[in-house]
Amino acid sequence: MEMKRNTTKLLLWLLMFFSDTVPFSYEKSMRERAIELMQDARLIDGHNDFVLRLRIFYQNRLSTVNLRELKKTHTNLAKLQAGYVGAQFWSVYVLCSAQNKDAVRLTLEQIDVVKRMCNSYEELELVTTSQGISDSRRIACLIGIEGGHSIDSSLATLRMYYDLGVRYMTLTHSCNTPWSESSSKGIHNFYPSVTGLTAFGQEVVKEMNRLGMLIDLSHTSYSTAKAALNISKAPVIFSHSSAFSVCNHSRNVPDDILQQLKKNKGIILVTFNADVLACGRKVVNVSTLADHFDHIKKIAGSESIGIGGDYDGVERFPEGLEDVSKYPSLIEELLRRGWNETELRGVLRENFLRVFREVENVRNISGLMDVGESEIPQEEVENSCRLDLRNHRLQTARSFGFPSVVQPFSLTLVIVSYLILYYES
Ligand SMILES: *[C@@H]1O[C@H](CO)[C@@H](O)[C@H](O)[C@H]1NC(C)=O
Ligand SMILES: *[C@@H]1O[C@H](CO)[C@@H](O)[C@H](O)[C@H]1NC(C)=O
Ligand SMILES: *[C@@H]1O[C@H](CO)[C@@H](O)[C@H](O)[C@H]1NC(C)=O
Ligand SMILES: *[C@@H]1O[C@H](CO)[C@@H](O)[C@H](O)[C@H]1NC(C)=O
Ligand SMILES: *[C@@H]1O[C@H](CO)[C@@H](O)[C@H](O)[C@H]1NC(C)=O
Ligand SMILES: [Zn+2]
Repeated sequence: MEMKRNTTKLLLWLLMFFSDTVPFSYEKSMRERAIELMQDARLIDGHNDFVLRLRIFYQNRLSTVNLRELKKTHTNLAKLQAGYVGAQFWSVYVLCSAQNKDAVRLTLEQIDVVKRMCNSYEELELVTTSQGISDSRRIACLIGIEGGHSIDSSLATLRMYYDLGVRYMTLTHSCNTPWSESSSKGIHNFYPSVTGLTAFGQEVVKEMNRLGMLIDLSHTSYSTAKAALNISKAPVIFSHSSAFSVCNHSRNVPDDILQQLKKNKGIILVTFNADVLACGRKVVNVSTLADHFDHIKKIAGSESIGIGGDYDGVERFPEGLEDVSKYPSLIEELLRRGWNETELRGVLRENFLRVFREVENVRNISGLMDVGESEIPQEEVENSCRLDLRNHRLQTARSFGFPSVVQPFSLTLVIVSYLILYYES
């Protein structure tokens, strides 16, 4: 009897002890639930600018640097693993200032460094298909081009990038191209009269559909996004943007476009860039980011949402999300806000995989016919480096090295000079 009473006392005491710690263990279980979920549904992140850092800091000399433990950057391999990243789109971004200059060479060099990086670390693996992502047990590497200036207005160049493994292209960065309008005004002065997509721009979108390359509308203007959504036969993506209604930054997506995105069955990969999230608010933290998730879910549904951190692309990130190891904090916050596990699996990877599979499916049913052969009208490109070979005659023996029309003229010049010299002397 006495013992029973003691046991009851003990039980009561234990109960009191644990009831005190319930808030703590509740918090902890949210973290644990987030981690368990992410172990099973590893993140596909849509945008990371790490390889631009490799160029700026190390001139792409991988032999001089250990990517496992690099400290200068938001990204290294150990942090990617700690963040449960299962696939990463590496941005092969070259600055707008390379437009009409050596953007194509620079883009090729950035593709080269992604390939070398992903082939030389056993933690990484290059893949080019949705199946490749699903099958990979490592961190799957994918390649995205950020900015249409990288193709130098050439569909053939676009196709060759696809052959090299590129699986998305952002139609513009912060500059207009000859065929597409950017959302950034006043940063660059390229092609100021272009609005939305030109006729050639529409051909670019069609060719991307045919190839199975994802069309990325981050950084594009409202009219460009509208036009691309109107034309594309496949779902489109925003690889790193957030909600305009929450922060009216020009990089963010307004509600009517989000509704159209839902109809298109596309996806917005929400970005962590503090400036784009916060509109000058002083405190930017996980809650600020989660507000964007809640809003987009309300407008377009959780199936339209993914993650595109933009690490190493900008300087400022929310408190608590300082580098690529911190993704679990976001998932924890969304769990706390009532997002269920099915929705979060979607956000982490399933939604993106669905979009990628559908883009591949559109390619499969378009077949190999009707390759895009349009060329941009020469007068729409302000690039003196472009050599026009239309009707160019291949000449074999040429005495003066002048083009043939100049030759009679230069011959006359020689004779006149000779005569002047003769009479003067
Ligand atoms: C959408 O496409 C239709 C025809 O395909 C065209 O008539 C309409 O102007 C387009 N709208 C936009 C916003 O591009
Ligand atoms: C955002 O809102 C502020 C304040 O309402 C306004 O001054 C600003 O022009 C807006 N920016 C954009 C891009 O709409
Ligand atoms: C974020 O900051 C706001 C404002 O200071 C605060 O109310 C909120 O609790 C913070 N959220 C987190 C997750 O720390
Ligand atoms: C999760 O939420 C979705 C709505 O977004 C709902 O359709 C689904 O049934 C929920 N799943 C569970 C397991 O509660
Ligand atoms: C597209 O075709 C390829 C090659 O035949 C095939 O491996 C792949 O499963 C197809 N994908 C889809 C989504 O239909
Ligand atoms: Zn960007």
